[in-house]
Amino acid sequence: MKLWGGRFTKPTNQLVDEYTASIHFDKKLAQYDIEGSLAHVKMLKKCGIISQSDGDTIIEGLNTVAVKIKNGEAELHEEHEDIHMNVEKLLIEEVGPVGGKLHTGRSRNDQVALDMRLYLRESLIEISQLLTAVQDSLYKQAQENLDTVLPGYTHLQRAQPVLFAHHMMAYVFMFQRDVERLTDSFSRVNKSPLGAGALAGTTFPIDRQYVAQELHFDGVCENSLDAVSDRDFVVEFLSNASIISMHLSRLCEEFVQWSSAEFNFIELDDAFCTGSSMMPQKKNPDVAELVRGKTGRVYGHLMGMLTTLKGLPLAYNKDMQEDKEGMFDTVSTLSGALALFAPMIETMHVKKDNMYQAVRKDFSNATDLADYLVGKGMTFRESHAAVGQIVLDCINKDKYLLDLSLEEFQSFSESIEADIYDVLSPEAVVNARDVAGGTAKKRVEEQLENAAGMIQSN
Ligand code: ARG
Repeated sequence: MKLWGGRFTKPTNQLVDEYTASIHFDKKLAQYDIEGSLAHVKMLKKCGIISQSDGDTIIEGLNTVAVKIKNGEAELHEEHEDIHMNVEKLLIEEVGPVGGKLHTGRSRNDQVALDMRLYLRESLIEISQLLTAVQDSLYKQAQENLDTVLPGYTHLQRAQPVLFAHHMMAYVFMFQRDVERLTDSFSRVNKSPLGAGALAGTTFPIDRQYVAQELHFDGVCENSLDAVSDRDFVVEFLSNASIISMHLSRLCEEFVQWSSAEFNFIELDDAFCTGSSMMPQKKNPDVAELVRGKTGRVYGHLMGMLTTLKGLPLAYNKDMQEDKEGMFDTVSTLSGALALFAPMIETMHVKKDNMYQAVRKDFSNATDLADYLVGKGMTFRESHAAVGQIVLDCINKDKYLLDLSLEEFQSFSESIEADIYDVLSPEAVVNARDVAGGTAKKRVEEQLENAAGMIQSN
């Protein structure tokens, strides 16, 4: 007999049971469901809605059910549809008909919204911690690479040299905004929907604040219809997760490029790479590729959830059961990626010499030559044009700017003097970007100083 079977004259078609059941995925919510029920029953007792002894019996029963589920000793059935009704059935099996008092003044609609919030609350903390560990690993690489110069790119063409520390710190700040977004969203997740009932509230004299406090919520959802219909906290999480994945994916792409023979800037540790079944020489950056690839499914879950909710009238609709799998999958996909990234970054070998050689064999100091000529009185447009000609001449001669003799320089402009060789060296070019947030070593050191406290307070 179904818990809601009273008004039915026939058993449910088995295909309907199979199709509508969510137990095979929402069993993940078991501990949160029971945590919520324990708070609810304590409140029922306190408010005199059920007797002390019935309340105590139910609490004891729920604790037993929790242990049984945890140890895999409880049987969860598809015919009981979801985790909420399975737990209630198990409770009644455990303590008898008095277990039927648990659901007084409550609906599965406010119950499921509660479980989702309890689950997500923990996940937000876990993901923030994992993000912070990734920040730490990037920070360590930055500390070790305050003198490592590599080409900076725009359009994937060499543009101006930067410090590798600067490049690592760029990601530290991206992930910082990600942590901040999660922290900010926490306050919206951390509200209790319990007491909203099916949609309109309940006739029982419940104490919503008490339940909220028991469960360490910041307060209660103000509107019962909103409380049971709101899944924008899930959408917000999925969109924040999408942004995190996007950031990770960009870093993945750089790792993949840098690991190629063409770039040859880094080598990922053997422990974080895989081989080929056919080509013995291969060492592939699979983790980075897969994290980049899995970004697609995270975006997919966001679009899926937005589309599911679009056009749903208030209040609860069964469509909303679709909120779970995407959220669970996003949490595990993201935490899996982040957990791998911290040690992968920490153990990555940075090929400082190769980076330096790349800078020596490019024209990424051309802007500095143009700026030098401005110092000698040219307008920037004149100097830009002159340096363009010098670069073209170098390309024809298969040389770089630092390979030109002073005579060659002076054939383009008499105002170029011997100090040009100091101005155009990779270190000088980097250190000339001495503005707040620039790549000059002392500015990058400033970033590290500021970021240390920032990361610590996450
Ligand atoms: N399994 C359902 C879900 O996840 C629980 C709420 C069901 N409520 C209902 N009125 N059918 O959304």
